[in-house]
Amino acid sequence: MTDINALKTEITSEIEAARTPAALDDVRVTVLGKKGRITALMKTLGGMDPEERKTVGAALNVLKDEIAELIKSQEKALKKQALDERLATETLDVTLSTRPERSGKIHPISQTMEELVGIFGAMGFQVAEGPDIEDDWHNFTALNFPPGHPAREMQDTFFLPEDLSEEGERAKKLLRTHTSAVQIRHMQEHEPPYKIVCFGRTYRSDYDMTHTPMFHQMEGLYIDKNVTMAHLKGCLTDFVRSYFKLDDLPVRFRPSFFPFVEPGAEVDIGYIKKPDGGIKLGKAPDGEEQKWMEILGAGMVHPNVLKNCGVDPDEYQGFAFGMGIERLTMLKYGIPDLRTFFECDTRWLAHYGFDPLDRPNNAMR
Ligand code: PHE
Repeated sequence: MTDINALKTEITSEIEAARTPAALDDVRVTVLGKKGRITALMKTLGGMDPEERKTVGAALNVLKDEIAELIKSQEKALKKQALDERLATETLDVTLSTRPERSGKIHPISQTMEELVGIFGAMGFQVAEGPDIEDDWHNFTALNFPPGHPAREMQDTFFLPEDLSEEGERAKKLLRTHTSAVQIRHMQEHEPPYKIVCFGRTYRSDYDMTHTPMFHQMEGLYIDKNVTMAHLKGCLTDFVRSYFKLDDLPVRFRPSFFPFVEPGAEVDIGYIKKPDGGIKLGKAPDGEEQKWMEILGAGMVHPNVLKNCGVDPDEYQGFAFGMGIERLTMLKYGIPDLRTFFECDTRWLAHYGFDPLDRPNNAMR
C-alpha cells in the first residue's frame, strides 16, 4: 500500500511538471500505456494470493482512475493556459485594409451576346431558342440543302450514332452546324410574321487559329408581307455600325450563295492596315487603301424554305442573317486567338472579361 501511495505522489508530481500537451502525453504513456507502470503492476495481480489480490487490485483501480482524472484536468489547465497566452499576445488590427478579393468576370462571348440582344431588341426582334442536337431535316433538308451537299459530309459535320427506332433522314441526329435550324423550328411552331434573333453553340469539325469545333452563332429572321432587301441592308448596316460604335463604318453587300436564301449576300466591313501590321476598322483616309473583311451572311429567305415550314411564299417574304459571335468579339475587343476563348484560363478571363456589375442591358432588367 505504501508503494502505491509513493507511486501516486511520484506520478502526480510528474503530471504537474508536464508543461505542454506533448509532455503530458508522454507521462500518460509511461503510466497508463501498455508498458506503463500501473499497467505493469496490474499484471502482477495474477501471482498474488486471493486476499492480497483483492485489496491491491482495488487500490490499483482507484489509483488508475485518479491518475486518469488528474491527467484530464492537467490537460484542461494546459489548454486554458495556451488560450490565455494567445489572448494576451495576439491582437487584431481592425484598421488594416481587407485582403484583395478576386471577383468573377463575364466571359467576352456572354458580353457580346448581351450587346447583340440590346441592339436587336431595340429594333423589335425577340429571342428564340433551339436545341444543339438537331436532326438532318431541320439542319439541312428544310433549309434547301440538296441531298449530296458537301456540308452533309462526315468530315464537316458531327453526326451522332443513328437511332434505328426512327425512320429516314429526320432521324439522323447531328450537332447543329449553324443556328439557321432555329429559323425552321420557329416558323414551324409559330404563325407569321416573324422577327426573331437566336444565339447558340454551333459545331463543325475544324480546329486552328480561327476555327474551333464548337463556336457561337447568332441568327436573325424577319418575315412579313412586305419585307424587302432594302430592309435587310438597312437593318444590317445599322447593326454593324451600332455594334462597333462607328457611325461611318463602311459596309458592303457582296453577292454570295447559301442554299436557304435567294438572293444571298455576304456583308463586309471596311478597315485599314496600321503601320504596325494591326488593323483598324473604319473608312480609309484619302490615298490609303480601303480593305474589307467579311463579317456575316445574309439573304432573302428562299421560297422553298418558307414552303417547307408551311408559310406561303406568295404572301410572305423576308430576310435572314447569321454570324459568328467569336469573330465579332475578337474584332471589337482585339482578341487575337479564337482558341483562347475556350481554354478556361482565368488569367485570360481576368484580362478580357467584363465587370459583372457593368452589363450592357442592366438598365433593361
Ligand atoms: N447559316 C449561315 C452560316 O452558318 C449564315 C447565314 C444565315 C447566311 C442566314 C444567310 C442567312 O454560315
